[in-house]
Amino acid sequence: MTTRAAKLLRRAGPAFAPALAIAGLLLLAPLAAAETTHEEEFGAYWPKGETAEEVGYFCMACHSLAIIAQQGLDRKRWDDVMQWMIEDHGMPELDEETYTRFLDFLTESFPEGSHKERVPGRS
Ligand code: HEC
Repeated sequence: MTTRAAKLLRRAGPAFAPALAIAGLLLLAPLAAAETTHEEEFGAYWPKGETAEEVGYFCMACHSLAIIAQQGLDRKRWDDVMQWMIEDHGMPELDEETYTRFLDFLTESFPEGSHKERVPGRS
């Protein structure tokens, strides 16, 4: 190849290779992310489902979900925890619909007296 384009490519050679590598990484990154399992992301003790993931992402902004899953509380106490997060720990306030959905999820997933089986080594 002695075309003008080939000469240009050859001259660009050393710069071109890293660019290709970076393009490759950019293409692969979303694939790697998609392979993250529920367990890796949330922990084996965290329930599956849309609300579970929503609550999970929201709460894990500040701490491990294990400290949530190790609890077993009734609705009133979960309500207290949510208020405590908002008032003392800077958790963003939720609109009423979302707040109720989160509270329902916590009460149903981590009901009173249920905590011991979920997170091994915690009591
Ligand atoms: C803005 C930060 C923030 C967010 C968001 C947040 N928390 Fe917390 N949370 C804290 C801090 C700070 C502590 C106390 C220190 C610690 O244990 O890490 C805490 C502690 C807790 C504890 C106490 C655990 C124990 O040992 O008694 C529970 C339960 C809890 N959070 C539940 C939640 C839930 C449920 C959510 C999501 C709906 C949430 N938190 C979101 C900051 C936050």
